[in-house]
Amino acid sequence: MSTMTINGRPAALPDDPDALLVDVIRDHLGLTGTKLVCGSGVCGACTVLLDGVPVVSCLLPAQAASDKSVTTVEGIAADNLHPVQKAFMAHDALQCGFCTPGFVVEATAFHDRWRAANGTAAPSREEIAAALSGHLCRCGAYEGIFRAVTEACAGRFDGKEIVTQRLEARDKVTGAAKYTVDVRHDGQLEGVILRSPVPHAKITELDLAPARAVAGVEAAVSLLADDRMVRFVGDPIAAVAARDRESALAGIAAIRLVSEQLPSVIGLDAARRTDAPVVFEKVNRKKAGNVSEGNAAPAPWKGNVRGPSAAFSKRAKQAKSFLSEARAARDPLLVEATFRVATQSHACLEPHATVARFDGDSLTVHVSTQGVFHVMEGIAKRYKLPHDKVRVIADHVGGGFGSKGALGVETIAAIELSRAAKAPVKVALDREEELSVTGYRPAAELKLALLPSAQGDLKALSLTAHADTGAAINSTIAALARLIYPAEAKELADFDVISNLPPGAPFRGPGGPPMAFALEQAVDEAALRLQIDPIALRKRWDIDPNRQRLYDWAENLEVWRNRKAASAQGGRYRRGVGVATGYWLYFWQPGSTVELAIKGGRLVASTAVQDIGTGTRTVIATTVAREFALEPQDVEVRIGDSNLPEGPGSGGSRVTASIVPPTLLAVQKLKAAIERTAARPPVAGSNAPWRELIAASPDLTVSAVRPKDGKAAPGIQSPFKQAGLMGIIFGWMLRYFNNIVAGAGVPSSVQVIEVEVDTWLGHVRVLNAHTGIAIGKLAAPALARSQAAGSVIQGIGYALYEARETDPRSGHILTSGMEDYRIPGIADTPRLDVHFDEAGFDHVPGGSVGIGEVATVPTSPAIANAVRNAIGIRLTEIPIRPDRIIAALKGRAAA
Ligand code: FES
Ligand code: FES
Repeated sequence: MSTMTINGRPAALPDDPDALLVDVIRDHLGLTGTKLVCGSGVCGACTVLLDGVPVVSCLLPAQAASDKSVTTVEGIAADNLHPVQKAFMAHDALQCGFCTPGFVVEATAFHDRWRAANGTAAPSREEIAAALSGHLCRCGAYEGIFRAVTEACAGRFDGKEIVTQRLEARDKVTGAAKYTVDVRHDGQLEGVILRSPVPHAKITELDLAPARAVAGVEAAVSLLADDRMVRFVGDPIAAVAARDRESALAGIAAIRLVSEQLPSVIGLDAARRTDAPVVFEKVNRKKAGNVSEGNAAPAPWKGNVRGPSAAFSKRAKQAKSFLSEARAARDPLLVEATFRVATQSHACLEPHATVARFDGDSLTVHVSTQGVFHVMEGIAKRYKLPHDKVRVIADHVGGGFGSKGALGVETIAAIELSRAAKAPVKVALDREEELSVTGYRPAAELKLALLPSAQGDLKALSLTAHADTGAAINSTIAALARLIYPAEAKELADFDVISNLPPGAPFRGPGGPPMAFALEQAVDEAALRLQIDPIALRKRWDIDPNRQRLYDWAENLEVWRNRKAASAQGGRYRRGVGVATGYWLYFWQPGSTVELAIKGGRLVASTAVQDIGTGTRTVIATTVAREFALEPQDVEVRIGDSNLPEGPGSGGSRVTASIVPPTLLAVQKLKAAIERTAARPPVAGSNAPWRELIAASPDLTVSAVRPKDGKAAPGIQSPFKQAGLMGIIFGWMLRYFNNIVAGAGVPSSVQVIEVEVDTWLGHVRVLNAHTGIAIGKLAAPALARSQAAGSVIQGIGYALYEARETDPRSGHILTSGMEDYRIPGIADTPRLDVHFDEAGFDHVPGGSVGIGEVATVPTSPAIANAVRNAIGIRLTEIPIRPDRIIAALKGRAAA
């Protein structure tokens, strides 16, 4: 038997020549800091040092480590943290942290090489990008990574002092943070899902007995719905649990099924044809998925087309007539275009995963989820269990972006297999499943007409959106155009186009980025025709007070003031600057409760919320610490467990606004309780020495529920209210069916982006991104900046690179590996400048609202407007690929 040395200790290697080093490290040795993401050498998450040299362990046969020394992230910080780890903590170079161990291992190797050769000279951005180009971060923490690596190499973290921006950062930079995929119980089985290989069929027979007969298989269950239909490639059919993955896969292969294949239809254009096979007959329409956060309002269906959903129109007939007259008169101010956006995959680095375990009649479920409390409620309802018999845990979550909000099939499969096998079962999706069937932001076609009046006001807007939602409904794209730029008349219609593709799901600002891509380019075009500065036109048309302040900031940026017209440029490389506006809604969740306690002289804050990389722990700790004049590290935060008091889901940017107000209320209650019980009460009005009082206090517990907001300043309303009766009804539905309130005021973002276009090769490079954001007071400033930067980077991916591709005949997803689905890497990161405007939300206790969605909305149109400014041509389809640029420059459409 051969051996290796791992983190200084000897370890045996399996004889199996096919065993991979990553599996030995994670499964045999339990060193779960090393992560498995792509399995194809693309993302770098599994990086370890082999005799001091970084290698990807997912491609390395374990035998290759024989007689060698392996260092994992756990071995980097044997005694003291490495300067790179300290720098990552200080510069918040991480969010969800799932990519972090790989980055840390690679960056420490780079640091050590660099220091040996260059002393404390700082490396350039290009040198850092080249060193870390084999790593991907879906949260977009690259800006912090640049700063951290630069400063660590420059020797600024050689000392002992450790500053952290994020409460759990130490666990994430050392590999100690446990995610659902890292959970391992004694006797735990591995579950695998059998998925449909065809896009449309009825399963007439399903025989699981042959699977149960396979050696090592402990359980097999059906996942078929009552109609026994599968409606997309990857639709779940059954699941098998076995003592290892190979046996489970053998069990899956042994399942005998007979199906009747049915005609299928794939994609937006085919599904709209009147003779297209219908995906959901009337009786089964409730089985369709949901691409938005809220419940779907009623809308007509015709074949595969559901819509129009046009409740947010305003004098639609008048808008139509204004636009027809303008067309007839060939009004030069009329802007008309059809825009197309591609499907964007969430591509979370931690896959959807669940570990289920029954102890008697109690069920404990570890889930990679955006809603521990919501998923607990969903499980209890589905299996008719009391709430106190179901516990959902998510200590750390490796990204979600909207795709992990609901009770997923991996959770249902794990629970049912665990019940059948009477053993704990893990179901973790593989990368192909993750990029195929866990949801996406739907592609869409948007037909837009915008008419300014001769006086330069906005007279009419028409926007019709057809979204490629797969086996799902409820896209809300055009409707969002009601909530900005008031006009005399607006005709806004949303259609879902349903086909035999996996269902879309909510994705960061659902509907916002495609709407903004069309509308913000049209506003830019109108400014050109009116010969008005694009920011000045927005100031005229947009009445929102938060955004007015952001426009003032944007128009004073040097890059904006110095931009040149396309006509003034020549040569191969042209630079352009574009602006765009985005907004989201201020949501909060009633019932959100925070418990605050003193336990053994230490402050403990608890709520059943989760941290998906958004910094929830830190927001709570910072809020409490500020009130008691302590440091965030003085507060222990317990989250990620549905047994704690009810907390909000991490969706729609509602966490901060849901938990800060009850936290503040709980602080008031606790202060009063401390003062009541203190042996020597503080003098009224004095600056109470809270640290001493807390240390001396008996154990105390208080809790507070999210209070209502105060009265908003005149002119600040919920945008739903501004949208009239239908908006009010929509807001009521959201509250009644989804327990979400849309508060007064609009979180907003204005972005100014500079690009460079290579007119020979068609590449677009984003050089600088200036992001102005109005989300009220910052609960945790460094983390807010990280969220903003990550949102912009996802927006850059949407604008320039990301597109899920499907086979139009078979319905298979062609971009089901990370080598095929391109997300932004560190070298794609521009210089990012984030400006926060903290006014506007004084009516919210604590003054803070969420940031997760708003900064990604305007990025794609700001880039497109910058490209227009650079080359004088407007690109109406994203991603803005090189071939599309070249085709546009040559005056023809791209293939
Ligand atoms: S998991 Fe090894 S490179 Fe992605
Ligand atoms: S922090 Fe990099 S993937 Fe989340």
